Amino acid sequence: MTGYNKFNQDTNIIGIIGHPIKHSYSPLMHNISFEIKNLNYIYLPFDVPINTLKAAIKGMVALGIKGFNITLPHKENIIAYLRNVSEEASIIGAVNTVVNDNGILSGYNTDVNGVYETLLPYKDEITGQKVSIFGAGGGARSVIYTLIRNFKPEKIQIINRTEQKGESLREYFSTRMHFTDIKSYELIPPDLVDVLRDSKLIINTTSVGMYPNVDDSVTSIPQSFVKGQVVFDLIYNPLKTRLLQLAESQGATVIDGLRMLVHQGAKSFELWTGEEMPVEKINKALKLYIDTK
Ligand code: ATR
Repeated sequence: MTGYNKFNQDTNIIGIIGHPIKHSYSPLMHNISFEIKNLNYIYLPFDVPINTLKAAIKGMVALGIKGFNITLPHKENIIAYLRNVSEEASIIGAVNTVVNDNGILSGYNTDVNGVYETLLPYKDEITGQKVSIFGAGGGARSVIYTLIRNFKPEKIQIINRTEQKGESLREYFSTRMHFTDIKSYELIPPDLVDVLRDSKLIINTTSVGMYPNVDDSVTSIPQSFVKGQVVFDLIYNPLKTRLLQLAESQGATVIDGLRMLVHQGAKSFELWTGEEMPVEKINKALKLYIDTK
């Protein structure tokens, strides 16, 4: 279904709402997938300022928009407008995907699927081991939820610039998920190198090292990393962050943020269309796009 006639009265519209609606890879990822799967869908970005969220949702329901992604600043506020909220979205306190079933809105957090699918190949290595996480925002919440739910680490160590935020996350997950082996640290604890060396898995959920600040890293000390460790950076632009370069130079296994991006998208795609996203093709297409940008 190509050409100018492909959109018609049967076309299903999917959107992404946020403000500012930054450059996002989601339209590219979903529109290519619709094309490959020959589905009569289109994915469009909508800039929705914070005080117009309610009106935007009413409008989307009225227009029969089938579903949408939600990004900053609406990920938490959207919950008030949903009929159903999935368990993971409710514990994490944030929704990134909404399905509109004839006016009944249901919210999900598919970042959890992104984290799960990315870490699944390393499950045996992670279970029963120590994990260190940089950051205490929304990304960290999805990561911590998935680790506790699916990977059963021995201990989770949160390292965050604002210690109070790390501490509230620790308290929150101890209470909500009864996981008490969580410790929080300030960004540069005196023994950072030892804390990191002792971790089987290190995850960066902060924006430190993201384009254009590609020379930044949450740690610049090569000795923080050891052979046999897994280091995962949620950033996908650039694909090889300074953190991953350092970790790789010490023999650690490194994972960039692209698989997580694609797998969260794949879950949303499935929720909207009931079909599987062509994950490997999308992974390749996005990699090419990022590399040649
Ligand atoms: P997201 O929802 O994508 O995780 P976020 O909620 O803004 O984004 O969280 C980003 C995390 O990265 C925060 O924990 C933030 O630290 P603070 O809690 O101190 O704000 C962390 N972060 C962002 N920029 C940082 C920087 N330059 N140095 C250290 N930490 C940073």
